[in-house]
Amino acid sequence: MEQAPTTVTITGAGGQIGYALLFRIAAGDMLGPDRPVRLRLLEIPQGMRAAEGAALELQDCAFPLLRDVEVSDDAEVAFDGCSIAMLVGARPRGPGMERADLLAANAGIFGPQGAAISTSASDDVRVVVVGNPANTNALIATASALDVPAERFTALTRLDHNRAVGQLAQALEVRPDELRGVTIWGNHSASQFPDVAHATVRGVAVIDALAERRGGHEQATAWLDDIFIPRVARRGAEIIEVRGSSSVASAANAAIDHVRDDQLGTGEGWTSAAVVSRGEYGVPEGLISSFPVTSDGTGYRVLEGLSLDPRARGLVDASVSELAAERDAVRDLGLI
Ligand code: NAD
Ligand code: LMR
Repeated sequence: MEQAPTTVTITGAGGQIGYALLFRIAAGDMLGPDRPVRLRLLEIPQGMRAAEGAALELQDCAFPLLRDVEVSDDAEVAFDGCSIAMLVGARPRGPGMERADLLAANAGIFGPQGAAISTSASDDVRVVVVGNPANTNALIATASALDVPAERFTALTRLDHNRAVGQLAQALEVRPDELRGVTIWGNHSASQFPDVAHATVRGVAVIDALAERRGGHEQATAWLDDIFIPRVARRGAEIIEVRGSSSVASAANAAIDHVRDDQLGTGEGWTSAAVVSRGEYGVPEGLISSFPVTSDGTGYRVLEGLSLDPRARGLVDASVSELAAERDAVRDLGLI
């Protein structure tokens, strides 16, 4: 018997990432080949024509899994009955805008959207925030979604995770799926810590595999510190510099990976996602920080028990301090 369709709401659906996401979701790349979907596209009035155009193209693809598409500029309508909410639309930093202005502008988006999710979404709703600053936007949405448990809100750091895996695969000349145990800690920003201390390749510690190729552990550690970590942490800026605008297809791909693993399970090993802290690894409770996570199909949980040496501890703490400063800034502005 056919499964009931899952309602997926995408905000900012008329934008670049929206356009890269919609067709893959409708094709079954996110929820698998047996789960039909209903798409609800939320836009602001200026973005409505682009979203409506995408809806026409979706119809023209005749995807067997796609049940229907609705476009709206009313959050309560767009989130009505949704089980998966992907919050992509956000206010980019404009000329002369200070960080506080950016946080305030985004609070004006993510606060009302959190409230609309609380009143209209399905009881089983799970949310991923993609729009930047993703971790703090997720925190703002959570604070306004009074009837939704906080752990249902997550933010995207899977792109950072995939970037780290991609860099290691290239350096070690292996396939990306031969790597396990990479973790992104902290904020989706240049302060993040991509950690390979527990990573393995074909069952061998990544650090040993790197040492073998680079002539020793000292050289391997130098490559990780001087090349790998800054490259992954600043990859967003590198993409902007090279393409002239921020990542699109890789961001959409990561958002699909994030929701797929959250909904269908991570299987062997773990991945990275920003989830609400319950104090794990000393991250202050309530912050939405990236951690090693697993899911059995019922939502991401922090994988506990990994060791952090003093250097790693310092790098995690630095990124978490940035998250705490963002939280304090939105609190001081009265936004949460
Ligand atoms: P874009 O400007 O092409 O699209 C954004 C869309 O959001 C626009 O169509 C706009 O009309 C819409 N929008 C704005 N406010 C809205 C609101 N209140 N409700 C609904 N829609 C609204 O941008 P993009 O390239 O698609 O990027 C979207 C966001 O994703 C940006 O904030 C970007 O920085 C972020 N991003 C995050 C990651 C990540 O890994 N977390 C990676 C890449 C990009
Ligand atoms: C990215 O990681 O590609 C985006 O978040 C864009 C950015 O501003 O870094």
